[in-house]
Amino acid sequence: MFKLNDFENFKNNKQKITMVTAYDYFSAQILEASEVDTILVGDSLGMVFSGHDNTLKVTVDNMIYHGQAVRCGAPNSFIVIDMPYLSYHVSIMDSVKNAGKIMQETNANAVKMEINNVMTLEHVQAIIAAQIPVIAHIGMTPQSVNVFGGFKVQGKNNNSAHNICHFAKTLADLNVSAIVLECIPKGLARQITNDLDIATIGIGAGAYCDGQVLVFHDMLGFSANNKIKFVKKYFSAREHLMLGIQNYIQEVQNGNFPTQEHTY
Ligand code: KIV
Repeated sequence: MFKLNDFENFKNNKQKITMVTAYDYFSAQILEASEVDTILVGDSLGMVFSGHDNTLKVTVDNMIYHGQAVRCGAPNSFIVIDMPYLSYHVSIMDSVKNAGKIMQETNANAVKMEINNVMTLEHVQAIIAAQIPVIAHIGMTPQSVNVFGGFKVQGKNNNSAHNICHFAKTLADLNVSAIVLECIPKGLARQITNDLDIATIGIGAGAYCDGQVLVFHDMLGFSANNKIKFVKKYFSAREHLMLGIQNYIQEVQNGNFPTQEHTY
């Protein structure tokens, strides 16, 4: 099973790291049985599980509730849990307390933090000092959607690319365990991946990253109209699930379910 130092081992061995999100017991079971390297309980659950427009409504308690379900389904997996919006922005003390609470109550292996301003760097440092492994997340950080004016590719101009590189280097110096790069040009992701000793995990950041992460429901085709450019659909869950449900409806309506086999 994947361990914290495998982020570094995989990078050194040029072995790609796989990460997929899970928010519940069954998807976690499926991911562990499929032998994905790492599972992310992402705050994307605010959008994908709860149907909100962005991730800002997600709370620490939400993350703990879903983290516990995922741990039940994947008892042996390396689980990363997102620190949600405002859980690490207010003060160092709050940040450490929230990260500690998430770790203690979910039995996760690391927390993930979206970083794009200098203030939160101190909070990362304090959480690492409290012996909690941190995965950083830079580039298009969804909790900053209002500052970015939408979910837009970052790092396209020199200034923004320079900032993202600077954060990547600073976070590596602070000893984060890996960095998620979201929605940045592939050349920039390549440069960061080559410059750093720690692993990069990309989502919409091209093929040069040390690993890739996708959202379970996106990659398995749960949505009716997912047009996100960086998502590849590996299955058509929606169509398959609907066939099963329509079959059930028909059999109930025409009396073919339940039969003797399903009756006491
Ligand atoms: O919340 C999430 O699922 C994420 C991934 C998309 C990287 O942060």
